[in-house]
Amino acid sequence: MMKNKNLIGGDKDLSAVLVIFGGTGDLTHRKLMPALYNMLLDGLVPENFQVVSIGRRDKTEEEYRNEIRISMEKYSRNKVDEKIWARLNDMIRYYRFDFRELDKYNELKEYLDGIDDNAGTLGNRIYYLAVAPEYFETIVVGLHRADMAKSKSSWRRLVIEKPFGKDLTTARELNQKLLEVFDEKDIYRIDHYLGKEMIQNIMVLRFSNSIFESIWNNKFIDNVQISLTEKLGVGTRGGYYEHSGAMRDMIQSHIMQILSLVAMEPPVNLKTDSIRSEKLKVIEAIEDINQEFLKNNVVFGQYGNGIIDDVPVVGYREEDNIPENSKTETFVALKLHINNFRWAGTPFYIRTGKRLGRYGAEIVIQFKDLPNILYFKDRNQEPNILVIRIQPNVGVFFQFNTKDFSTHHDIVTTKMDTSYVSPTQGNTPEAYERLIYDILRGDSTLFSRWDEVEAAWNVADKIIRYREQCKIELPNYAAGSMGPERAFELMAKDGRRWWNI
Ligand code: BG6
Repeated sequence: MMKNKNLIGGDKDLSAVLVIFGGTGDLTHRKLMPALYNMLLDGLVPENFQVVSIGRRDKTEEEYRNEIRISMEKYSRNKVDEKIWARLNDMIRYYRFDFRELDKYNELKEYLDGIDDNAGTLGNRIYYLAVAPEYFETIVVGLHRADMAKSKSSWRRLVIEKPFGKDLTTARELNQKLLEVFDEKDIYRIDHYLGKEMIQNIMVLRFSNSIFESIWNNKFIDNVQISLTEKLGVGTRGGYYEHSGAMRDMIQSHIMQILSLVAMEPPVNLKTDSIRSEKLKVIEAIEDINQEFLKNNVVFGQYGNGIIDDVPVVGYREEDNIPENSKTETFVALKLHINNFRWAGTPFYIRTGKRLGRYGAEIVIQFKDLPNILYFKDRNQEPNILVIRIQPNVGVFFQFNTKDFSTHHDIVTTKMDTSYVSPTQGNTPEAYERLIYDILRGDSTLFSRWDEVEAAWNVADKIIRYREQCKIELPNYAAGSMGPERAFELMAKDGRRWWNI
């Protein structure tokens, strides 16, 4: 939880109107509004701040606010306090508008300017695009035509949710369109994983502990595993997921970001661009993944029916809006090499999937074994393992060997766990609290810079193209399992295994 109580309350420069395109959508109800509520509770919302939710549906402001209130009860990580809610309630406006009507943006402009006059929001704006990606361009063009995208006397920021394009070409085209209207420094590309506590903690763990940083390389680390596994299926998002699959949904974005934080060199300072430049170099150093390499080092899967937490669930092809012969992958396991001095020879194993038997996000650092002499002459040794636990537990786990107190020389494996169960699980609202707060302050460190997105697409595209060509029998894993058999073989042929901590 952020504890900077009253940190920015009253600061005039942060006064702003948050304009949410997609104000009646799922993201606004489940994440954005609860995040704003909790930010208010923590004193992180400026005194002069207004939220304008844009929706196509005809409803009064009161009706809209009541709906948000109901969502607040469901999704806020803190209980709803009447006084705080009353403040948020007062800040929320509902503006009925079909954002595809480009000639109506002038009216929106007038409306927002009117709010500035009454609420002292100084013309500062956050345009948050919580809409389907096909509308990103339309909205940006609308903002541009009505002269709302830039202002000499105030700041204007654009926030976009993923997916950012569906391959390198479309991402480039979209980016080009955005850059015709907004400056790169004003574009905030959300990757909500970067807002999670333990993801931010990766750099702190690495660069503030001599014990870790001195051995954080191929001389001491045997392999790194990044696992983001979900019990949930595609739910109501079939229409989107069918064209996305795990490669675009998780690997191109969240996993590439995590990988770059785990493997990056220490930046020269903690400034946004210094950090982003080091992250970019990691993705650029990923060994060229040609078809021959992929044949042996990637596994795709799709879930069939099965049982999750004792409840029978349908297979992917039976989900809503999914064709019965769908080839979309809901699981990927992958081995990558980062070809630089720090990492050459240390493999990075990645695994992500839906409808798996276990829910969690973890980074496992497995250290190299000692020579099999002395204590390990006659017994197998358990490796030292450091686990950065992102969710549902949040914290660090460390495994090491000690003498068994009750015998003369037996060795036992000791597990030290500083992690605790996070009060909120999954797509954590805290992530959004942190991210919205940073957008307000104009700090884009936890957002993806264009060249990072581009480099990640460059890698993902090659794997997606390979997947489109390979013939796999699908579905190939049962819901409730830990993915296709081949994902285990991927490890076993290297003499390793997936760690489930
Ligand atoms: C989103 C994906 O970006 O991340 C979803 O689109 C996925 O498919 C979600 O379920 C996972 O996020 P979290 O925070 O629940 O781990």
